[in-house]
Amino acid sequence: MRPPPVTAAVRVRRAEVSDLDDLVALEESSFAQDRLSRAQYRKHLDSESALVLVASANRRRFLGTAVVFFRKGSTVARLYSIAAKPQAQGKGVGSALIEASEETARSRGCRALRLEVRKDNAVAIRLYEHRGYRIIGEYARYYADGADALRFEKPL
Ligand SMILES: CC(C)(COP(=O)(O)OP(=O)(O)OC[C@H]1O[C@@H](n2cnc3c(N)ncnc32)[C@H](O)[C@@H]1OP(=O)(O)O)[C@@H](O)C(=O)NCCC(=O)NCCS
Repeated sequence: MRPPPVTAAVRVRRAEVSDLDDLVALEESSFAQDRLSRAQYRKHLDSESALVLVASANRRRFLGTAVVFFRKGSTVARLYSIAAKPQAQGKGVGSALIEASEETARSRGCRALRLEVRKDNAVAIRLYEHRGYRIIGEYARYYADGADALRFEKPL
């Protein structure tokens, strides 16, 4: 069964310096370890090899974020991080961020998007599988707490 269409009110744009407080707060509430720091977000905002996306409702209300990394000479982009605010989950924010990440990667000449996800993150795994991502491998003890990662890829 196809997922429901992404909520029309969710907009995705490039993150700006004024989003840093929201980005860091969401990172802290979403992930226990392996977090991006404020300084890392700040650096990624200006980087050629990174794209920080923000999902918002009517431009201002911050709903979530995704971070995509690119490598020079590589046609494989990496969805490094994705998170929706807890009160906004299940409303298409994650889907809108994935779609925008794929579109940008495609427009930069990438042929695939890859990501890693905790093996125990059933919600995220379902989201990726429903959007055409397939398992291409796994990493044992990938995360700081010793959890394993599954590696997914989607051809663009
Ligand atoms: C994983 C995560 C980003 C998903 O974000 P989300 O905004 O809840 O994702 P969506 O709403 O787009 O999709 C979730 C489900 O809700 C459904 N949905 C989407 N829009 C909907 C709507 N308007 N009404 C009801 N359900 C809807 C989707 O179909 C999807 O179900 P499916 O996977 O069976 O297709 C979010 O759960 C999160 O931030 N988790 C914590 C951080 C995390 O684990 N990140 C991933 C690892 S880096």
